[in-house]
Amino acid sequence: MNIVVTEDLTKIYHTGMKKGGVTALDGVSIAIEQPEIFGLLGPNGAGKTTLFKTLLGVTQVTSGYATIAGLPPDNPVSRKRVGYLPENHRFPNHLTGQGLLELTGRMYSMSRSDINTRSKMLLNLVGMSRWSDARITKYSKGMQQRIGLAQALMPDPEILFLDEPTDGVDPVGKTEIRQVMMKIRDEGKSIILNSHLLSEVESVADRVAILSHGKLIKIGSVEELTTRESQYEIEAEFGNKLFDIPEEVGKKISLAMDRLVVQLTDEKKINWIIDQLRLKKIEIRSVKPIKITLEQSFIETLGDKKAGQI
Ligand SMILES: Nc1ncnc2c1ncn2[C@@H]1O[C@H](COP(=O)(O)OP(=O)(O)OP(=O)(O)O)[C@@H](O)[C@H]1O
Ligand SMILES: [Mg+2]
Repeated sequence: MNIVVTEDLTKIYHTGMKKGGVTALDGVSIAIEQPEIFGLLGPNGAGKTTLFKTLLGVTQVTSGYATIAGLPPDNPVSRKRVGYLPENHRFPNHLTGQGLLELTGRMYSMSRSDINTRSKMLLNLVGMSRWSDARITKYSKGMQQRIGLAQALMPDPEILFLDEPTDGVDPVGKTEIRQVMMKIRDEGKSIILNSHLLSEVESVADRVAILSHGKLIKIGSVEELTTRESQYEIEAEFGNKLFDIPEEVGKKISLAMDRLVVQLTDEKKINWIIDQLRLKKIEIRSVKPIKITLEQSFIETLGDKKAGQI
C-alpha cells in the first residue's frame, strides 16, 4: 500500500523577486510504501522542505496533487495520520518530557487514559522513561531529539516526517535515534527522512530519492543506488595470461594483483566474461558488483545532472 503519493507535483513561489517565480518542485511523482524508511536527499534549495510542507498540508501546490492515505494532505483525517519532527525545534522550556507528551495528546483530543498509556509506551520506545520528569532544558541534544520523536508519535501516525533528526547529536545518540527509526518501521509505519548525513541515510533507509532544482533525478533502493551499474570486480588467477574484452562486451577499467575491474555494456555480459575465463582455464575466485557509498552515488548523480545540462 502507498501511504503517500505525489503525482506531477509542481510548486512555484511567486515573491516578486524573480520573474515567473521560483520553481521549488517541478513535476515530482513519488509513492511511499508502508512500511518503509524513505530518504529524501538533495543539495540546499533542491525542494526538500517544500515537499515536506506540501505533504503536511501547509503549502498549496501550483499543479499536480499529493495524497496521504488516499486523502488530500490538508484533510483533517489525513493530518491525524501524520507525525512531524521539524528541524531545529524548540519545545517550551518549562515542560518535562512527560508534560510535553501530555500537551501533545491534549492537542490531538486524546482521552486521559490514552495519553497515559501511549506516553508510557513511547517514553520506553525512545529510551526516555528515566528522564520523563526532568525538564526538557536539562536534556542533551540527543535526548531532545528522542523526546521529539516521541511527541511526533503521540497521535499514532502512519507516516512520520523527520527533518534532520540527528543534527547536532553525538555518535551514540545518532545510533539510538537510528534504532528507534528502525523499530518504528518494524511496527509497520513509514518514515520520510530528510538528512544531509548520507552515511546515516545509507544505514537506515530502504529507498532514497534525490531532488535537484525541484526535479526528482533519481529514485531507488539503497542497494540499487550504491551499486555501480554494470561494473564488476573479478578476482581470478590471471597470472600472465592475456585476457581481452571485445568492445561489444565492455572494457577493462583496471587489472592488478589478479583483480580485474570491468565496465560492461550490459549486465548480462558478465556471463560472457565467466565463460571466457573458464575457456582459458583461468580459475575464478570471486565475481562481485562494484559497491559505492551513497555519498559517492549522490555526488555522481548530481555531477551527471550538471553535465547533462551543459
Ligand atoms: N516561502 C518561500 N518563498 C519563496 N521561495 C521559497 C520559499 N521557500 C522556499 N523557497 C525557494 O524554493 C526553493 C526550494 O527551497 P527548499 O527550502 O524547499 O529547499 P531544501 O531542499 O529544503 O533546501 P535546504 O537543504 O537548504 O533546507 C529554493 O530556491 C528556495 O529559495
Ligand atoms: Mg530544507
